[in-house]
Amino acid sequence: MKNFAVFASGYGSNLQAIINAVKNGKIRARLALVVSDNQSAYALVRAKRARIKSVYINPNNFPKREAFDGEVLKHLRKEKIDFVVLAGFMRILSAVLLRAYPNKILNIHPALLPKFKGAHAIQDAYDSGAKITGVTVHFIDDKVDHGPIVMQESLAIRPKETLKVLEQRIHKIEHRIYPEAIDLLARGRLAVKGLQVKIR
Ligand code: GRF
Repeated sequence: MKNFAVFASGYGSNLQAIINAVKNGKIRARLALVVSDNQSAYALVRAKRARIKSVYINPNNFPKREAFDGEVLKHLRKEKIDFVVLAGFMRILSAVLLRAYPNKILNIHPALLPKFKGAHAIQDAYDSGAKITGVTVHFIDDKVDHGPIVMQESLAIRPKETLKVLEQRIHKIEHRIYPEAIDLLARGRLAVKGLQVKIR
């Protein structure tokens, strides 16, 4: 069974969905480590509660991205991590991690990439007047919110719904499809060629 790490900076609702999916066998891999760049991330509480090893790395101690990532990499190597899952991790990864884990770092984005990149994707889609938005699971590459797309699910933005309701509906999709994508990666079912991902 493969070992994986989750990186999270905040509330960690996706981390929780992943913890639950590992527990009930929907993800056939071992969640060996949670990494955070935010000491007060609720994600760290979730890890602790689930008795998963976690590490907080203070970005202020590593002024350069590469140095921070080098520290992260030490922990990944120590825990024999095979692949990485970003779940609300608010830092851009450098070549240090990309090179160490090529096509082995997944991210989830709350919109249909390449639309609505950035940290306010749900609000941006809502404000734009778009009738459809969704969720994207993708491998990361050297561009932000970019890389081979593993899975997407769309949803219609209802004419009268509030931003809050839309957010809840999007998170619900995230919590369902992210574990599915992680399990596919864990079982070697994802074949990446350029920007295309085939599910074997
Ligand atoms: C999610 O909406 C995810 O798509 C985005 O960051 C948010 C993280 O939420 N990348 P949580 O910390 O998992 O609750």
